[in-house]
Amino acid sequence: MEELEAIAYEIKKCTLCELCLKRKNTVPGEGNTTAKIMIIGEAPGKNEDLQGRPFIGMSGKFLTKYLEKAGLTRERVFITNAVKCRPPNNRKPKKEEIEKCRPYLVRQLSVIKPGLILALGTSAASSLGIKFKHLSEIKSRVLDLQLNDKKFKCLVTFHPSFPMRFPSARDSFFKDIQNAINLSIKLPT
Ligand code: URA
Repeated sequence: MEELEAIAYEIKKCTLCELCLKRKNTVPGEGNTTAKIMIIGEAPGKNEDLQGRPFIGMSGKFLTKYLEKAGLTRERVFITNAVKCRPPNNRKPKKEEIEKCRPYLVRQLSVIKPGLILALGTSAASSLGIKFKHLSEIKSRVLDLQLNDKKFKCLVTFHPSFPMRFPSARDSFFKDIQNAINLSIKLPT
């Protein structure tokens, strides 16, 4: 898909925030360019920065395991992050960094046009312009979003690092993924 490649190339050259200074690689995202579900994480970690691919480290393996358990392979979704470059020492991306990176995400959404966005955690939700004080206000809810002139359904759940660390959150994380899949099946194509 040419437009997605053009976006990835712009990301590769991007110097809009200080994350460009220490990155080894940009991580634009990967997967099915006609996916019904687009998954948005927070930011690349060490492994992702080294390889230029999203969610390939520990939390990525955890996410992949839960997607597969719910009947979805990574090949069927498009996976990206709110921020396309690794924040130093895996700190959370700053508000300004999320804002600078948002146009890339919005353009990726306009090209892929997923029926459903599965947003993983607070950075992903913020990058979509969702307003909240605490994740619990928006978690597991199906939200209607309008980005530029396009409409999307969005389900927000935990970032996988949370259920990975706290087993008691795993059931709820799994149910959210199942709901996201069921919803995406029902949406008009
Ligand atoms: N965590 C994320 O949010 N994204 C990745 O790509 C890897 C870890």
